[in-house]
Amino acid sequence: MCGIVGYIGSKQAQDVLLHGLSKLEYRGYDSAGIAIFENGGVSLKKSVGRLANLAELVDGPDRITGSQGIGHTRWATHGRPSDENAHPHQDGTGNFTIVHNGIIENYMQLREELTAKGHTFLSETDSEVVAHLLDDMWTGNFFDTVIAVSQRIHGAYALGIMTKHEPGKLIAVRKQSPLIIGLGEGENFIASDIPAILEYTRNVYILDDGEIAVLTADRVETFDLVGNPTTKEVYEVTWSASAAEKGGYEHFMLKEIHEQPRAIRDTLTGRISEDGQNVVFDEINWPAGFAEKIDRVHIVACGTSWHAGMVGKQAIERLTRIPVDCEVASEYRYRDPIVTENTLIIVITQSGETADTMAALREAKLQGSRVLAITNVVGSSAAREADDVIFTWAGPEISVASTKAYTTQLVSLYLFAGWLAQERKTPFVSEIPSILSGLQQLPELAAMALQTESEIESFAKNLADKENAFFIGRGLDYAVSLEGSLKLKEISYMHVEAYAAGELKHGTLALIVEDIPVIAVVTQESLYEKTLSNIKEVKARDAFVLAVAFEGDEEIQKSVDQVITIPRVDPFLAPVIAVIPLQLLSYYASVVRGNDVDNPRNLAKSVTVE
Ligand code: G6P
Repeated sequence: MCGIVGYIGSKQAQDVLLHGLSKLEYRGYDSAGIAIFENGGVSLKKSVGRLANLAELVDGPDRITGSQGIGHTRWATHGRPSDENAHPHQDGTGNFTIVHNGIIENYMQLREELTAKGHTFLSETDSEVVAHLLDDMWTGNFFDTVIAVSQRIHGAYALGIMTKHEPGKLIAVRKQSPLIIGLGEGENFIASDIPAILEYTRNVYILDDGEIAVLTADRVETFDLVGNPTTKEVYEVTWSASAAEKGGYEHFMLKEIHEQPRAIRDTLTGRISEDGQNVVFDEINWPAGFAEKIDRVHIVACGTSWHAGMVGKQAIERLTRIPVDCEVASEYRYRDPIVTENTLIIVITQSGETADTMAALREAKLQGSRVLAITNVVGSSAAREADDVIFTWAGPEISVASTKAYTTQLVSLYLFAGWLAQERKTPFVSEIPSILSGLQQLPELAAMALQTESEIESFAKNLADKENAFFIGRGLDYAVSLEGSLKLKEISYMHVEAYAAGELKHGTLALIVEDIPVIAVVTQESLYEKTLSNIKEVKARDAFVLAVAFEGDEEIQKSVDQVITIPRVDPFLAPVIAVIPLQLLSYYASVVRGNDVDNPRNLAKSVTVE
């Protein structure tokens, strides 16, 4: 996830910017850059790779002197990691210098328009368009120009801007991408995240969505996006620097669980047509006729990504009626699978580097299949080697136990299933507008599901002294149960198994004894009665049953020991919401057991060995 730092004051900006960027390193990045006012001009340095590379560029005699500047760490979205694509960006005259987080959705159109007017672009990024647009729309006044430009750009953005026309001033704009202002004595700061400025001040303004801040060394004024002044309260940061990296949360995992409403929104951004009727996937470039020719789909992945694939299988089959197999990559790669040029291979991988998944991808390409990667990391091996890529835009996931990567993979798979149905003009196309409207409600529903937290925390205290537990569910609820079970075992170290509820009686029921915890996921209306019977089977053996069910489900209340209610959602999309209490449950069980939540024993975030 990109990081922004801006400084205006009397210190050497280079030191403040490099220090601030180093405090954002934990977010992940692939290149970095700084731009500083120096002797009436702007000195700009950027470099692909680690921050140390940038620091070397501005060391000793190459040091940039000046006390106003902006800096950025980039986590590639539009355009691969490179010096050219690194921020800051400038327009052709160098009058405007900008750093940007987020996505400018209409950048292609703006870029074409500006190119036709004679602007030359140096990078592949969506961000560069903002610098050119500022120059193109220059009104003679910095603030007015920023307001005018913000009306023309669509999408999510946090911007730090400076201009040679009005030195001594920095402007920050926030729209759906976090940005804060640090308030100092004779100096002020911009940052995408609090750790960047904690060394210098603990007083901040947290910009609201659609707010602009104008900074000089002595003053900060804030406005809405049409230029009306806004009033802000100073927020005093009381957290330690390490808590600040985690956004004030105890662990990265909890932070990432809470980031899901935002992450899901980002996954959806730009992928639904304005009228809400169609899925838009400009990034998929299939040869003409390929969509119609596909006669089978293989989804290949590991761990949590594999569990996302189990949901994806059901989504694609339901909307396209193409048979889909979903398989773990370590098996798939050695199984000599039957693939032809009409097989679509989908690899799902958060990191884009998992060795088994990459081996399966390469094998499938050798066999002549087309590979679509669903990944979170731009510039990763999967993103580079697949024929087409869908980025999940979850932002860096640091905790080993995957949470927001999973839910954004699910949303990507639902979108893809809908898109494929559109391309093949299947009879199920008529369902797409309602599915899309359901998907757009997910960020809000995910936020509601997070409100189960305190209830889950107290249940986790009881669960944590048990050694065994079971998850059961049917259909999509079974897929979610698998993920809930993996989450719990990997960070609590309890022995946990997930079963298709109907399969329990074929052996595992022998393990159900008094007080053993059974967590039942019950969101699939068409399978409701069947799951209820399975719940009764375990209740009859005195298991302790916790159900995750929709609010207003009276029946379930009578049949189990405890219910965690989640907001109602189309059952087809329920996995995205139902998994949230399960993530919280594993988190709190791990905390109660005193485990290292973010770095569980024996596990790695990215498994690049076989
Ligand atoms: C590791 C991680 C899991 C992850 C799996 C697949 O085992 O600990 O959380 O689900 O790898 O990773 P990928 O990056 O390919 O999604």
